[in-house]
Amino acid sequence: MEILSLQDYSIYVGNFWPELRSFLSKGKFHKHIILVDENTEAFCLPLLMNQLPDINFELIRISSGEQHKNINTCKNIWTSLFQLEASRNALLINLGGGVIGDMGGFCASTYKRGIPFIQIPSTLLSQVDASIGGKLGIDFLQVKNGIGVFNNPHGVFIDPGFYQTLPKEELRSGFAEVIKHSLIADQKQWDYIKQQDDLTLINWETLLVPSLKIKKHFVESDPFEKGLRKALNFGHTIGHAIEGFGLETNQPLLHGEAIAIGMICETFLSYLQFQLEQEHVAQISKYILKIFGHHPLDLQYFGDYLELMKNDKKNTDGAINFSLLKGPGQVQVNQTCPPGWILQSLQYYNDLAAVVI
Ligand SMILES: NC(=O)c1ccc[n+]([C@@H]2O[C@H](COP(=O)([O-])OP(=O)(O)OC[C@H]3O[C@@H](n4cnc5c(N)ncnc54)[C@H](O)[C@@H]3O)[C@@H](O)[C@H]2O)c1
Ligand SMILES: [Zn+2]
Repeated sequence: MEILSLQDYSIYVGNFWPELRSFLSKGKFHKHIILVDENTEAFCLPLLMNQLPDINFELIRISSGEQHKNINTCKNIWTSLFQLEASRNALLINLGGGVIGDMGGFCASTYKRGIPFIQIPSTLLSQVDASIGGKLGIDFLQVKNGIGVFNNPHGVFIDPGFYQTLPKEELRSGFAEVIKHSLIADQKQWDYIKQQDDLTLINWETLLVPSLKIKKHFVESDPFEKGLRKALNFGHTIGHAIEGFGLETNQPLLHGEAIAIGMICETFLSYLQFQLEQEHVAQISKYILKIFGHHPLDLQYFGDYLELMKNDKKNTDGAINFSLLKGPGQVQVNQTCPPGWILQSLQYYNDLAAVVI
């Protein structure tokens, strides 16, 4: 087990159960309330119950899925907290993916002006990305994460054992963020990752710790996302547009699948902007394609993608903001590119369909 210490809480990676037990007993909480959805109730709660059979828990259950990450579900959570007569010293335990973590953390931070909460993220995406950084919230008026707060949990408990029951597309989706972390900040980690072509054979604990350290580094250097933290946006300017557009269709992509495409396009932009070596461009593109496959983008919607990028909340002065690579492990924030280049990068991705893998 490894411990990563942040300013006011720690992240436990691996067999964290003894630490969790001692955290719960030392905390002398009024109540332990676990927030689950139907999947984490079925697959993750039994693990917790097995490990901590003598601890008393109350349960709040919500429906899974991004479509439930909204104010109505929050009302249900707050109502349940009142019905359970949770005091200021009750602990909310968010057991689930990023939806449970973001929304549970938001509800805990606002119920009676804030009660303690911990994150037990159960997807790769939530472990490596959503559960550090203090961003909590819900979707509102079709704006993703439109309402929320920055607030930190009392602890984050990460166990790759949860992946056993995770659908393989969900695992792969989270892996996009692991790839991203290596590409923006850790060339050695990238050299290691690019040799991994079977996600079922990966030693996750060794992979998670360096990845979490990278996220921790950017979060600590810029807790409220004013500048440097934008590095984590690599692949996301184009990726978000592709993800957002896909949501309107009957073939939506998972977040990581869209970010994978975004990373390939933005690697190509890095070549145009910084003359990133062609060898690196080819390696990054090929590896991401090997893991994620190729999802052709419809040429007739290229203009729509561009429009969506222009509306991104990270832009300033109307220019589309990118974080691009100078080399593997080296990122540069606040880059702008002409629209022609962006369209060229989408075409570059489409042309890769011909690459034999
Ligand atoms: N706060 C942040 O900084 C941050 C960063 C990235 C993403 N996010 C948010 O995270 C959310 C996405 O997170 P996600 O990908 O974890 O999605 P999710 O929470 O919807 O989980 C994906 C699916 O897997 C199921 N599941 C979870 N754990 C399981 C397990 N161990 N076995 C079987 N099924 C399991 C869930 O019930 C759900 O159906 C988005 O809302 C996004 O906005 C937040
Ligand atoms: Zn992401």
